[in-house]
Amino acid sequence: MVNGAALDGQVALVTGAGSGLGAAIAHDLAQQGAHVVVNDVRADAAAAVAKELASEVAVFDVSDSAAFDAAVDNTVSQHGRLDVLVNNAGIVMDRPEVIERLIAAQVAAMNGEEVPPVRVLSSLTDEQFDRMLKTHVYGTFYGMRAALRHMEEARAGAIVNLCSVYAYGGSVAGPEYAAAKHAIAGMTKSVGAEVAPLGIRVNAVAPGFIDTPFLDPLLDARPFLLARIPAGRFGRAEEIAKVVRYLVCDATYSFGEVVPASGGWLA
Ligand SMILES: NC(=O)c1ccc[n+]([C@@H]2O[C@H](COP(=O)([O-])OP(=O)(O)OC[C@H]3O[C@@H](n4cnc5c(N)ncnc54)[C@H](O)[C@@H]3O)[C@@H](O)[C@H]2O)c1
Repeated sequence: MVNGAALDGQVALVTGAGSGLGAAIAHDLAQQGAHVVVNDVRADAAAAVAKELASEVAVFDVSDSAAFDAAVDNTVSQHGRLDVLVNNAGIVMDRPEVIERLIAAQVAAMNGEEVPPVRVLSSLTDEQFDRMLKTHVYGTFYGMRAALRHMEEARAGAIVNLCSVYAYGGSVAGPEYAAAKHAIAGMTKSVGAEVAPLGIRVNAVAPGFIDTPFLDPLLDARPFLLARIPAGRFGRAEEIAKVVRYLVCDATYSFGEVVPASGGWLA
């Protein structure tokens, strides 16, 4: 496959592409020749990336079912096709008090002192839990459903969902995040098998800790995380974009697979 031409003439939609992994993925797919529609809930961020790609924006919240349908339908009516969807938009658990309590508990344990309760789940609100699941699980469901309605007609297409190492391991600091990513892995495997006979490939990438603005709320936890990463460093967004490119362009015998890129993280 000639580099730079693999996706010539194809149309991709990347959600959450105004920052971090989504922006890197959008750039990478565009380098492969795709016309990339840039989604983000933040209009300015989406516009900046679309400008770099000489592309267009689709500003909407992925947890809005009707807005997702409309954006996909609009893309197909404008360009006549949708070949690639990357369900990337996501949010991190932003609970600094939990990180503080976790660090205090770890320090106490290391000093042989009584470990205080961390109260991660018992202090999680309905709103925090809902927002996490709406963004990740519903967002991924709405995106796959809208895209598959077209891809099934075309009997072609590739969908890549963003999982995490927390799609197969637990997260003491973020049970709601782990729940969301486990759900995305489950949907990827299920739908991947369903549409495989049509030649549509639904797969996921499960990154470890990647240096993007996503990690900003976890600033205090960075040394603890780094100590557990066998590669000895955080990943780069471009490294995950390469895995997405592989799943979109080259992984022609991968259906419903969840591919880790974790720096060796032991879940
Ligand atoms: N960075 C990491 O360490 C890491 C690791 C594993 C998985 N991931 C996953 O990768 C994805 C991207 O993470 P990132 O590191 O690039 O984060 P990021 O914060 O840099 O970017 C996420 C983007 O998604 C957008 N977004 C958030 N909610 C949205 C919504 N409801 N609708 C549309 N856009 C929305 C944000 O505005 C932002 O531009 C997420 O799904 C995340 O869970 C990240």
